[in-house]
Amino acid sequence: MTIPAPAASVPTLKSPVLIAGATGFIGHFVADACLDSGRPTYVLVRSTPISPSAAKVLRSLEEKGAIVLHGLINDKEKMEEILKEHKIDAVISAVGGDGISDQLGLVQAIKAVGTIKRFLPSEFGHDVDRADPVEPGLQMYNEKRKIRRSIEEYGIPYTYICCNSIASWPYFDNTHPLEVLPPLDKFQIYGDGNMKAYFVAGTDIGKFTMKTVDDVRTLNKSVHFRPSCNFYNMNELAALWEKKIGRTLPRATVTEEDLLAAAAENRIPESIVASFTHDIFIKGCQINSSVDGPNDVEVSSLYPDEAFRTLDECFGDFVLGLNEKHVSSRDENAPPNPMVEPLIVTATCA
Ligand SMILES: NC(=O)c1ccc[n+]([C@@H]2O[C@H](COP(=O)([O-])OP(=O)(O)OC[C@H]3O[C@@H](n4cnc5c(N)ncnc54)[C@H](OP(=O)(O)O)[C@@H]3O)[C@@H](O)[C@H]2O)c1
Repeated sequence: MTIPAPAASVPTLKSPVLIAGATGFIGHFVADACLDSGRPTYVLVRSTPISPSAAKVLRSLEEKGAIVLHGLINDKEKMEEILKEHKIDAVISAVGGDGISDQLGLVQAIKAVGTIKRFLPSEFGHDVDRADPVEPGLQMYNEKRKIRRSIEEYGIPYTYICCNSIASWPYFDNTHPLEVLPPLDKFQIYGDGNMKAYFVAGTDIGKFTMKTVDDVRTLNKSVHFRPSCNFYNMNELAALWEKKIGRTLPRATVTEEDLLAAAAENRIPESIVASFTHDIFIKGCQINSSVDGPNDVEVSSLYPDEAFRTLDECFGDFVLGLNEKHVSSRDENAPPNPMVEPLIVTATCA
């Protein structure tokens, strides 16, 4: 059902937004979209030396107009000072797994200031009150649940972004899948490969997250991302990639027991990803509950005129990236590489 947009959902003044974790994997998509939306965008960065890749992201955000502030989300006094001084209206946290509990300081600062119109804590995955992964993923969900309960107890206006899976090949031992191509040698298929999941491009996670920030329909709601165009199982995902690269690859089964064993190894963060992979592709956590409760809204119903990037387009980007890398590093005198050459043909024919 399409939910009509009330006039009050259109902001007249652009609210200043503070983003924690803007140099991270999810956070940089959100910060980019915030800047694209024309809002004054403040990004919170730790004073400790940052990695070269984070410094590169920060430079590009600054070039687009982001204002960098230094601080730690667990430093309640500093956070209060920042929220007041910059008259922040909305706060978005995209801190990583090791910073989830640190958000308590930020939550307390938001409560103390009392002027924040919307807080989006670091969620950006499954609905943690519904999904129930094995350990060690469960511990992260327990931390996210605790942050939810403190937000609700303090009466802070919130939105929980449940965006499901990032649009890429869902490796079970990898944390940042956008940096890794889908397989070129063989597919590892979880179980029978028939369990479906929703895949969302990083840019769409950013774009739709920013749409919710001053939308009255998302106040104190969980916003679920279930784009019907990107509802795939592993077998369909493999077939899509094969179409892109113009050849078929062998398939190996990764059983439920394999995933549970990888989770039980308790290697962080790899085992966390294994437990989520088990929850998605064996237990079906993205599809085994409906999202029509009083506190649930679905993003395609909220914004029916806004298109999602399709998985087909996202996989096309991987092919283009691979070809660019290959062409720039190719030695004119070297023999053709059979793993990569067919991709050149696919891309130039497209
Ligand atoms: N749906 C999906 O497929 C998916 C995939 C990945 C992640 N996620 C979720 O998205 C969220 C973000 O994860 P991520 O992987 O994007 O994180 P990430 O890449 O590890 O980035 C974390 C960011 O948080 C910052 N940070 C951490 N602790 C902080 C603190 N105490 N004060 C200020 N900044 C702090 C880091 O700053 P530094 O640069 O200083 O370290 C970095 O910018 C998590 O909730 C995660 O569960 C979802």
